[in-house]
Amino acid sequence: MPKTLVVYYSLSGKDTESVSKELAAALGADLERLETATPYPADYDAAVEQGKREAESGFCPELKPLSHNPADYDVIVIGTPTWWYTMAPAVLSFMRKTDFAGKTVAPFQTHAGQPGHVISDMRKEAKGAMLFSGLRLEFGKSGLVSPKSELDEWIKHLKELG
Ligand SMILES: Cc1cc2nc3c(=O)[nH]c(=O)nc-3n(C[C@H](O)[C@H](O)[C@H](O)COP(=O)(O)O)c2cc1C
Repeated sequence: MPKTLVVYYSLSGKDTESVSKELAAALGADLERLETATPYPADYDAAVEQGKREAESGFCPELKPLSHNPADYDVIVIGTPTWWYTMAPAVLSFMRKTDFAGKTVAPFQTHAGQPGHVISDMRKEAKGAMLFSGLRLEFGKSGLVSPKSELDEWIKHLKELG
């Protein structure tokens, strides 16, 4: 079995986090939540505005130190909420400072109906990696909107990596 790390960012600690925890449990993987050194405003609308400026300018916020070293893993699953049609800035920071050469990268995104170009942006940042198909999951106020079978299928295929 390849050694797998699930790395994710989740502003709310809900949508992307719930998927990441399910993936880590199903794959027997380690789990790493990315956190920015400076937290976003607690007010959601203010966070959305700051996120707009950051996502549109390609800003890479400083991250808190990670508890796992990506270099130790064969497969890195990376999860991000959609922020202004791209990945969250914290995920861009992580991808820019990680060497993916020789690893398999499996990207997934959560979104609220406007998925944008997150997966293709993540693919561009995963330099040197073998790329696993991307997964898009829509969430609404009461949870997962996309069919749960899409996540289950993705997990099934990830388990076949050997
Ligand atoms: C700064 C910001 C920008 C967002 N931009 C988008 C977007 O472009 N498209 C979309 O569908 N959802 C967008 N959303 C909604 C989140 O992607 C969605 O609610 C996601 O499931 C949240 O994941 P989380 O609970 O792990 O933080 C945005 C949310 C924030 C905070």
